Amino acid sequence: MIGKKMEKALNDQINAELYSAYLYLSMVAYFESENLPGFATWMRAQTQEEIMHAMKMYDYVNERGGRVMLKAIAEPPAKWKSPLAAFEAACKHEQLVTGRINDLVDLAIKEKDHAANTFLQWFVNEQVEEETSADAVVQQLKMAEGAPDALFMIDRELGQRVFTPPARGGQQ
Ligand code: FEO
Repeated sequence: MIGKKMEKALNDQINAELYSAYLYLSMVAYFESENLPGFATWMRAQTQEEIMHAMKMYDYVNERGGRVMLKAIAEPPAKWKSPLAAFEAACKHEQLVTGRINDLVDLAIKEKDHAANTFLQWFVNEQVEEETSADAVVQQLKMAEGAPDALFMIDRELGQRVFTPPARGGQQ
């Protein structure tokens, strides 16, 4: 059975993951409006990743006998001054999420909730990947600054990204 503090913290994180999805979906719309279909495809896959993260937490709260409570999702920004600015914002956002996951692990340790701690380790590892993949695009865009041809090439490359759904109900 999940404790009340952990239940609330995970419910808050479900909201944070759904906000991440909302933020990245807003970036999809921005990239589409800028005629950058590859960037939009990449962010669309990222949006699906975030929904998967939220559902993974959702399923865990349920499995542990908790109650999922959904709250309002904040409005994300609608535009950025460049693709680089958007990816820098994504990178910064992922660092923030990493901090939140670390706080959840701290809480699990404090509450002696070993099951939650084990569950959260998946997210600890996932955040390393999340920060790395966003930062890799930031670095590419920095090198491409002022070169429209390079931006076109990056757009084509990012368009290759495909979201692979997890095998079963949010588990991976
Ligand atoms: Fe769900 Fe991008 O962290």
